Amino acid sequence: MTLFNKFETLAATRQALAECGLKSVNVVMEKVISPTEAVINGRPTILAGTNNYLGLTFNADCVEAACRALKTEGTGTTGSRAANGTYNAHVALENDLADYFNCRSVIVFSTGYVANLGMISTLAGSGDVIMIDADCHASIYDGCQLSGADIIRFRHNNAADLDKRLRRLGERASNALVVVEGMYSMLGDRAPLAEIAEVKKRYGAYLLVDEAHSLGVLGATGRGLAEEEGVEKDVDFIVGTFSKSLGAIGGYCASNHPELDIIRFANRPYVFTASPSPSIIASTRTALATLRRHPELKTKLWENAHRLYQRLGSLGFNLSPEPSPIIAIRLANKEDAVRNWCTLLEQGVYVNLVLPPATPDGGALLRCSMSAGHTTEQVDTIASAFAGLKH
Ligand SMILES: Cc1ncc(COP(=O)(O)O)c(C=O)c1O
Repeated sequence: MTLFNKFETLAATRQALAECGLKSVNVVMEKVISPTEAVINGRPTILAGTNNYLGLTFNADCVEAACRALKTEGTGTTGSRAANGTYNAHVALENDLADYFNCRSVIVFSTGYVANLGMISTLAGSGDVIMIDADCHASIYDGCQLSGADIIRFRHNNAADLDKRLRRLGERASNALVVVEGMYSMLGDRAPLAEIAEVKKRYGAYLLVDEAHSLGVLGATGRGLAEEEGVEKDVDFIVGTFSKSLGAIGGYCASNHPELDIIRFANRPYVFTASPSPSIIASTRTALATLRRHPELKTKLWENAHRLYQRLGSLGFNLSPEPSPIIAIRLANKEDAVRNWCTLLEQGVYVNLVLPPATPDGGALLRCSMSAGHTTEQVDTIASAFAGLKH
């Protein structure tokens, strides 16, 4: 028995994938051409599997702001937010976000993963209870594990099951932290947030919503599902990321609870890692301003999403439950998924290959994600590539 034995199962899975025809499980973007195109395996390829929902990664204002910050403030902060890593711009971004979310305060973290890890593990501790939707992201599960709290999973998108499990907790329910996502990353389906908010209010529990995939995508002004469902006042903590609609990297938590000010300094994943570099903060501030000024980006994103969903549906694919910028195609087994994923790549279309155990129901998925940056012609090319697949 060695330290390395535990990797044998993973190695065998990857070997089996290679035997299904997957030449390289690690895709390398040999050259990035635009928000929606790159060269992969020497071939110009349409990117239909990124999280670049608003297509802002090459936005001229964002690039310019990042370059300016790089030149004036350097390549990195070389320190934690709690030490020498908080610059004026980090505070300004927190203020921009607080203004946007219309809330008392915001903490900016180094990534969205770290934001979930930090908030969940700091809010809940030994003796507390966290109730999570079974389909939550790994960063939420990892935050739960780090917290040392009791973790109870409820059935995906099932407010009645949450209600039942809170009821069983008795008095402890009023101190429970309920965690859900706005839009789920694998199938693009939305939480029944108004129902969940009603349940949490009934028990006096706390609600944290991860809007990683819904910022810039849902809500009249792009604030996410809580805005769309009109329940922002019932959400205690909104967590999100800069790595999707804002085209950079970093994370945040927005809240009206005054305790957020002190939670910041009790938050180990905030304190014990370096802060985002000045160029990242500058491009994120500009991307947020662009998101607010240009609602037509969200409109174009949804046009593309509806078009691809409709085209793939008419080809007879078994699709994720509702039209959304995340469109998942369910396949019968992982061999079919791998073969089809390779065929798409050979035709110059990159999508995400999602295999168990990462899939919600244990099946295999080809996960497409749309961008406002896709042209209608690109959407049609993606659909045509799918038309040739066996399923
Ligand atoms: C639902 C959800 N939360 C959090 C994250 C983490 O975000 P980041 O890439 O900023 O670490 C992701 C990333 O995929 C996600 O899908």
